[in-house]
Amino acid sequence: MKRRDFLKGITATGLASLVPASWLSSCASEPDAPAWDFDRVMDRSGTWSTKYGRATNGEIPMWIADMDFGTDPYVKEALLKRISRDGIGYTSTPDLFYEAIGSWEEKQHGFSVEREWIGFCPGVITSMNQAYLTFTEPGDKIIVQPPVYDHFRLYIERLGRVAVDNPLIFRNGRYSMDFEGLEGLMDERTKMLVLCNPQNPCGTLWDKETMVRLAEVCERHGVIVISDEIHGDLSLYGRRLVPFCSVSEAAARIGMIFTGPTKAFNLAGISNTAYFIIPDKEKRERYLATLSRAKLNEASIPTLVAVTSAYREDTTWLEALKRYIEGNVERVMQFFAEHELGMVPLRPEASFLVWIDCRKLGLTQEVLLERFNKGAKIIPSNGSSYGTGGEGFIRLNIGCPRSVLEEALERIRKEFS
Ligand SMILES: Cc1ncc(COP(=O)(O)O)c(C=O)c1O
Repeated sequence: MKRRDFLKGITATGLASLVPASWLSSCASEPDAPAWDFDRVMDRSGTWSTKYGRATNGEIPMWIADMDFGTDPYVKEALLKRISRDGIGYTSTPDLFYEAIGSWEEKQHGFSVEREWIGFCPGVITSMNQAYLTFTEPGDKIIVQPPVYDHFRLYIERLGRVAVDNPLIFRNGRYSMDFEGLEGLMDERTKMLVLCNPQNPCGTLWDKETMVRLAEVCERHGVIVISDEIHGDLSLYGRRLVPFCSVSEAAARIGMIFTGPTKAFNLAGISNTAYFIIPDKEKRERYLATLSRAKLNEASIPTLVAVTSAYREDTTWLEALKRYIEGNVERVMQFFAEHELGMVPLRPEASFLVWIDCRKLGLTQEVLLERFNKGAKIIPSNGSSYGTGGEGFIRLNIGCPRSVLEEALERIRKEFS
């Protein structure tokens, strides 16, 4: 649309045509529904949802990592209350932000964090990008360990750095790190390694021993480790995330954590609900200087309210959510055990994403996706987008009501049996 045509709509009455009253009232009717009820099938139409934007033909969208559950009622109420109060002016980050995060890291992950190690940052990927810019030069190498979240490689390359693969080893249904491969990649241009803890897409929570070893190798070669822990608050089956910087003194010297309540509390649409933890003073100061130069160090009101209300003492809602996700995971495991469809799901140790090995089907990736998208009418994430080791896999987002999951499984059964 040309700018002038677009602007034509924005007259006093035209504004209503951009955000019509009917849209506002349909949004306003949602809060009445019981958000605790994870079984409730939510209507996301008309909410500009990215996930549903792709589902134009009655498909069930099971790709991008947000959940089809109501917002934690406490967070929702906090947001509504603050936004309904006037004074939406420039806002400073309150002490509560640091206190809430410090206490959360301690209680949830057993990590004692000093207040000054913590800082607001504008979203995990945006902030990791700022770290690449701060600590590396164009042409420097940054190691990624695929199969892994595709936006690591994407932005490393967009910023003119070189993404180098150290693929994970997949043996007997478990992923592990290839330390021999890692040593072989270290040279004077290798400056960083991006860790995904827990690993998206395969749901692996990295153990302390592995990360102690990783820190030792990386420190020996002068390599900084960036740890993306955004899915860590959704550790399942009573497991706990082990934050990278907590595993050893070396890890605290070379590590930088980027994380936030975005995934666990389903806040992706607010954006920027993120923070960093950088124990090393020199790195932290350099990093903060970058953020402040780019004016990326100021949190919005929704961000501050969302983070501080999500990271409260009472974790009843989050625990209930995790039990529900575990129920969904068990249903998926049981389904693929009962139906011999040539697909083997990996039980995630964290989060609501199930990594499914479809290699037994012997299909090309293109045909595999076509069968899911057009045949079963389900939109999964494409395994090969996660890099080496992703071919022949799909990632299924099961952060949805059980009835929707049942419908999806039935569609898969019909298409592939
Ligand atoms: C591992 C991982 N990191 C980061 C993100 C995105 O985080 P943000 O929206 O804060 O950039 C995602 C989203 O799916 C993710 O899975």
